[in-house]
Amino acid sequence: EKGSYDHYMLKEIHEQPVALRQTLHGRIDGDDVSLEDFPPGSFEGVDSVQFVACGTSYHAGMYGEWLLSKDGVEANTFIASEYAASPAPVDEDTLVIGVTQSGETADTLEALESARQRGARTLALTNVIGSTAARTCDDALFIRAGPEIGVAATKTFSSQVATLVLLAERLVRDLTGSPTDDHAARLDALESLPEHVEVVTNDTQAADVSQRCLGDNGHFFIGRGNAYSVALEGALKFKEITYGHAEGFAAGELKHGPLALVTPETPIFAVGTGHYQNRLESNVNEIQTRGAPVIAIAPRTASGLVDTADEFLPVPATHPDLVAILANVQLQLIAYHAANEMERSIDKPRNLAKSVTVE
Ligand code: F6R
Repeated sequence: EKGSYDHYMLKEIHEQPVALRQTLHGRIDGDDVSLEDFPPGSFEGVDSVQFVACGTSYHAGMYGEWLLSKDGVEANTFIASEYAASPAPVDEDTLVIGVTQSGETADTLEALESARQRGARTLALTNVIGSTAARTCDDALFIRAGPEIGVAATKTFSSQVATLVLLAERLVRDLTGSPTDDHAARLDALESLPEHVEVVTNDTQAADVSQRCLGDNGHFFIGRGNAYSVALEGALKFKEITYGHAEGFAAGELKHGPLALVTPETPIFAVGTGHYQNRLESNVNEIQTRGAPVIAIAPRTASGLVDTADEFLPVPATHPDLVAILANVQLQLIAYHAANEMERSIDKPRNLAKSVTVE
């Protein structure tokens, strides 16, 4: 039931604090994690990780790859349909993680099957107990976000990434013998994530900023590192429900081509996390020289970025590894309010289905 909300998407955006509390419940144990079927040592013998996924779940996989790589675990992310076409090498020491909210996405199931047949260990990271992915993989880890009705994935992305932060802690300890860098502070921040998300869902500024996004020109989303995956996700959400042209770029790639698209009519959303801040600021300067309006999404503490940007959507200051999750919630709100203003079919965008069970 939508209750007092006009759309399931808006309801699910606002449900994120509750969803995240369910995701995290009982899983943070002091400065370690406690993950049901995965006690310490569960991943001994694994030497590398591959994520396979589609769409929003692919972006969560990229976030997971970033988390693992920074702590010395070899990790790569693949678009599931491409993985089936050109499978990456695996052996019995490869852990292939299918990130799939529904657990029924045909492309992801096919990629997992290809990995399984070649001897890899498989794990389903999913929202649906009893789904095909959960039943056919060697292991399953549930994101516990609750049912998602809107076609555009919102709360499941946040819960996927939060689960990946937990899983990264276990994987990094098992594969490298040491906890993640800064683990105590990061797990502390993770515990506060639901309340930080609530600050963002209670913020009303995205509705005003979305007024900039009603034209026919392109909308661009940039970030570096974990914010790159969120830039891609912000653009996907925007195009999916507004039907407007949107693209996400690695901020450093702009000058290698996409800068030619930038004009005073193309709003640019810059996601700042605290990582790679000076470089992001240089990218913002390059854009502003071409006259494009820059909307920074960042904590107030990222003052260099906040002061240069034309507009600013704040997120609470937290551990820099988690800031991009909060920024993503602002981008969900931007897409929602722009689509709502344009009277789009927000919960059922044209041509799209919630669960894609064909290849
Ligand atoms: C976008 C969206 C899709 C799904 C994709 C994978 O908002 O919802 O891109 O993320 O179809 O679906 P799952 O996670 O069910 O495998």
